[in-house]
Parts: sequence; structure tokens; C-alpha cells
Amino acid sequence: MTTQPDDYIATRKHVRAFLDRAILDAEAKSETESAIYDSVKQKLIESDACLVAHYYVDPKIQQLAEETNGLVADSLEMARFGARASAPRLIVAGVSFMGETAKILSPTKRVYMPTLEATCSLDVGCPENDFRAFCDLHPDREVVVYANTSAAVKARADWVVTSSIAVDLISTLAMKGKKLIWAPDRYLGRFVQKQTGADMLIWDSACVVHEEFRLHDLDALQLVYPEAGLLVHPESPEEMIERADAVGSTTQLIDAAVRFQNPSFIVATDKGIFYKMQQQVPEKLLISAPTRGAGGTCQSCAHCPWMAMNRLSGIERLLDDWPESCEVLVDLKLAAQAMKPLTRMLEFKAS
Ligand code: 13P
Ligand code: SF4
Repeated sequence: MTTQPDDYIATRKHVRAFLDRAILDAEAKSETESAIYDSVKQKLIESDACLVAHYYVDPKIQQLAEETNGLVADSLEMARFGARASAPRLIVAGVSFMGETAKILSPTKRVYMPTLEATCSLDVGCPENDFRAFCDLHPDREVVVYANTSAAVKARADWVVTSSIAVDLISTLAMKGKKLIWAPDRYLGRFVQKQTGADMLIWDSACVVHEEFRLHDLDALQLVYPEAGLLVHPESPEEMIERADAVGSTTQLIDAAVRFQNPSFIVATDKGIFYKMQQQVPEKLLISAPTRGAGGTCQSCAHCPWMAMNRLSGIERLLDDWPESCEVLVDLKLAAQAMKPLTRMLEFKAS
């Protein structure tokens, strides 16, 4: 199996430093951000743009999307909504693969992000050339990649999936006797393999946020909240998944919080999800699952450093100037190639 590329390891080392800066930055800016909310909202309403936000971004940005007929959703619904929205400009508040997917699926729209630097450790951990070489070694296998990858990696794939359809899609392919390559998230890959029994070669990368959820301290937390359900995103380690009451994409976890009778939930995913989850279950108590760093050594502490780069002030800058440096552009040839597995993802229906 392939080893983790150097730039992924470098990424992990820099997340801590990045977060220290981001926390200071966020404290300094949070007052200013609240003060500009009304004017950003007015500018967005008067513009020809529509805001699509992921559950992990700043709650103020999620609120802005809700109050301006935009969307707050998981990565699959963001892709679907971007493709069908009528606005000529899309503002994607999330990470770069979400902006790229929106551009590929809506080539005639202009797609912008508050910053194009908001990447994802899974995307960084699966460089195009290494991935192509790996696939070329196994020409008998169909290639399934997670949405959290670059357009170039998607262009090499037969299928793209998000966590909300991964088990159903792989199970359908396994039933047809297909042998598979899966990339890049090893925890999601192993979870899907266990659920479906599929023959999969799994790329070795991980999400720096979810990888930090650990059983460590979970027992103590469950003693304090014995009735709490455990909700786990499948990018988390097996030890968390095995103990979970529900495992699923961000939307599936919110649905589980509504469906289950528990008065409280311990949630193993990015804290940004609490904004929408709490709206759906206002009477229930939501608690962040412990990360491995009780005592302060966690790197992400359950918040994605790249999602945190999306700020109201960045959206205001877009609405004022539409700077070229924030427009998402995808090479036309790669976009045409990536469109095929993306369309198959959107059209996939579990049998
Ligand atoms: P969803 O597909 O559940 O929205 O997850 C995207 C993601 O980046 C999770 O870390
Ligand atoms: Fe990527 Fe993890 Fe951030 Fe999701 S939470 S965007 S998988 S780094």
C-alpha cells in the first residue's frame, strides 16, 4: 500500500500552528464579523449571487445562507443544489473540492469562494501523479474516489461518492463482482469494506479533524451522560465507529439526532454541525466527542482549520469586488473528464 506523501505529513505539522493563529485571529475578528452581518446580508440580497454553505462553516455564514434563499447542506446536496440553482454566480463557503465540484457541474456559472486556500487534508493527501501511478498498477480495478479530492483525481476515477452514498454504491458494485480502488480516506474505506465485503485496495490518507476522535475519555463522558447517543462521521477511527449508535454523513447524523429518542448526543464530527443540529433538536443536549488531546495536544479540536477560513468579511469582499483571486476555475479537459464520475454520483440510486 502507498505511504503518506510528504506534503500530507507537513500538513499535519502545520495544522497546530495554523490553528493557533486562526484562534487569535478569530477572537480579534468575531466582533467585527457580527457587526457586518446585516450589511453583508443586504449586499447578498441585492446581488445576482447565491450562497451555498457547508455545515462546518461559521454559524453566521450558515445563517446568512438560510436567510437569503441559499443552502446549508452536506457535500452531496451542495453539489446537487449548485447544479440546479438559477443564480449566475455561486458563492461556495466550504473547502476547495466543493468549489471545484460546483464549477464542474455548472460550467456556465461563475463560482467564487471567500478564499481559494481552504483545502482539505484528504485532497492534499492524494496527489494526482501518485494516484494515477497507483491506479495504473491495477488496471483490473474500477476506481472510486471520495468527493474530497481534486478535479484531477476525480478525472482519473470511474465513480465519485460522498459519505452519504458510499456504502450503497460500493455494495452495488460489489454485487456486480467488481474489484475496486478506493481513495483517499482510509477510515471511510475500511468502514465501507466492512459493511459490504467488497474487494478494495484502500489509499492511505485521513482527515486531520476526524482522525483525532478517540475512545480516550469517551467512557468517562458516557458515565456522566449515560443516556447520550453516539453519532460518528465515518472519517473517524474504527474504535469510534464500532461504538456508534449512528454512523453517517453530516446530514445523516442530523437526521439521526431527530429520529433517536435520546435526550442528548455525543457527536464525533466538526463542531460547526451543532448550528443546524441544534435547530432540529432544540430540546436536546449536544456534546462534542473527546479528541485524543484531552489536555491540549489535539491539533484540530474538532474544527476544520480550512472550513474556518470562510469568513463573513471574505464574503463581503466578494460582493464588493468579485476579485479574480477568489474565482474557481477548472481546466476544461479535466472538468470534462471529472464530469463523468460526478454525474454518475448524482444519478446513482441505491437498488
Ligand atoms: P459530508 O459529505 O458529510 O458533508 O462531509 C464532508 C466532509 O468534508 C467531512 O469532513
Ligand atoms: Fe477535509 Fe476533514 Fe476538513 Fe472535511 S473536516 S474538509 S475531510 S480536513
